[in-house]
Amino acid sequence: MFKVLFVTSEAAPLMKTGGLGDVSASLPRALQSLGCKMRLLMPAYPETLERAKAGGITPVAETTVRGQVVRILQTRLPGTRLAVWLVECPALFGRAGNPYHDDQGNDWPDNAERFDLLCRVACEVALDRIGLNWQPDVVHCNDWQTGLVPVLLADEPKRPATLFTVHNLAYHGRFPYETLIKLGLPERLWDYRALEFHGYLSLLKGGLVFADRLTTVSPHYAEEIQGPDQGQGLDGLLRLRRNDLDGILNGIDDQLWDPAHDHHLPATYNLRTLPRKAVNKAQLQQEMGLEESAERPLIGFIGRLVEQKGIDLMLESLDAIMGMGAQFVMLGSGQPEYEKALKAAAGRYPGRMALRLGYDETLAHRIEAGADMFLMPSRFEPCGLNQLYSLRYGTVPIVHDVGGLHDTVVNTDPISLESGAATGFIFSPATPAALTEAVSRALDLYRAPADWQRLQAIGMTRDFSWQRSGRAYMALYADACKARTQAETNGT
Ligand code: ADP
Ligand code: GLC
Repeated sequence: MFKVLFVTSEAAPLMKTGGLGDVSASLPRALQSLGCKMRLLMPAYPETLERAKAGGITPVAETTVRGQVVRILQTRLPGTRLAVWLVECPALFGRAGNPYHDDQGNDWPDNAERFDLLCRVACEVALDRIGLNWQPDVVHCNDWQTGLVPVLLADEPKRPATLFTVHNLAYHGRFPYETLIKLGLPERLWDYRALEFHGYLSLLKGGLVFADRLTTVSPHYAEEIQGPDQGQGLDGLLRLRRNDLDGILNGIDDQLWDPAHDHHLPATYNLRTLPRKAVNKAQLQQEMGLEESAERPLIGFIGRLVEQKGIDLMLESLDAIMGMGAQFVMLGSGQPEYEKALKAAAGRYPGRMALRLGYDETLAHRIEAGADMFLMPSRFEPCGLNQLYSLRYGTVPIVHDVGGLHDTVVNTDPISLESGAATGFIFSPATPAALTEAVSRALDLYRAPADWQRLQAIGMTRDFSWQRSGRAYMALYADACKARTQAETNGT
């Protein structure tokens, strides 16, 4: 069975800023349960060390990378049997807060050095040169922070196969030319067929050019990124590599996100006890200072407040949505201008719109359980996890027709509801008018309780576990390993 080194910049609960953290925790566990021998490699941020403490932390190796002493600390993902190797380098990873930027949202100035170090350590492990006495068959890399791994491994004659997963093509890991020199990367990589991207160094591109196999997190996004609209300037490259590119839908951790056993909830429930969902709604309304009303439809949103998530569309549609009698509960943090605009909007609708700025895991679960509907007007969405959590929690998603949202939500009309396919409401194009129209359709159905409960029930019984996707990754690992063996035999 495959030995896999899974390299990532975040994995929940050791560190999480978004869906990458969720997937980096749940996918390796799913692969482990399918028989793969997994090791997860990620930075030892201060919060990570704190959260790992209870499970025990043991130094297992030490090396020096460009003058920095780096230790590998072994632990487990809390509450699981998944082995984790933490890359400890206090000068680069020993700062609290967001792993990518400071409190003002400015990228850490040494991000290139920080994630270059993660990649170099990953390569040392991958080539079994760090004294761990373990060599993977596959190195599975995720997003730009790990983009240098396939680059650095490419010239190694005896190396594992490399797989690079794009969770979000919008984040390039872009740096000036000088970074190439600073990182000691060879000049030949400054080429449009390698790391150069319109006069910048793109670490994401490194992964896309040099990895043996590429994946992204939904089939529809895999198609979209091969076109100019969603390709972020990399669509040509992705078309060139289309035979190596697969879209594999994300799964969810169905233990962590299970309304029947969710310890964050005031009242747990399942399909049979669905009326108990109302207790969560009442508590959420109370906790968030919303008018307590069982009848008023409550719409939820959780997410990073960035352009991707369609916050502008939401702001522009807000008056119309409020005019239809709904309540709105929002949790998120991100760009200051969105935070400001949302605060002002919430101020205009006391008791009707509640906003919590910041990151709050418990509240996220409570919104999933307490809201009637969940809005995701994303302009693009590689997969999206919140619509999957919503489906599981009987909270009907209203989504823009893009990426993974397209693959996971089935629009409701009389025929799809009757046939048992409908799960939510889909709109397109990404305009306030289309969004408002979809909300209005949802509110209409909400007023027909029997139909609404049927819709909830269909969503709650959909299977978004990792079973199928885990197997799809394993098939790719097999493929990539075979190709690697052949290449080694041929001396290429
Ligand atoms: P993305 O990865 O683009 O942020 P996803 O939908 O894939 O979007 O995943 C987002 C994850 O992050 C979900 O688990 C969501 O609940 C969580 N999340 C986002 N913002 C917050 C927040 N402010 N507080 C708590 N959880 C959040
Ligand atoms: C990214 C994407 C999101 C996806 C997540 C996990 O952050 O924006 O759509 O679900 O990664 O793959």
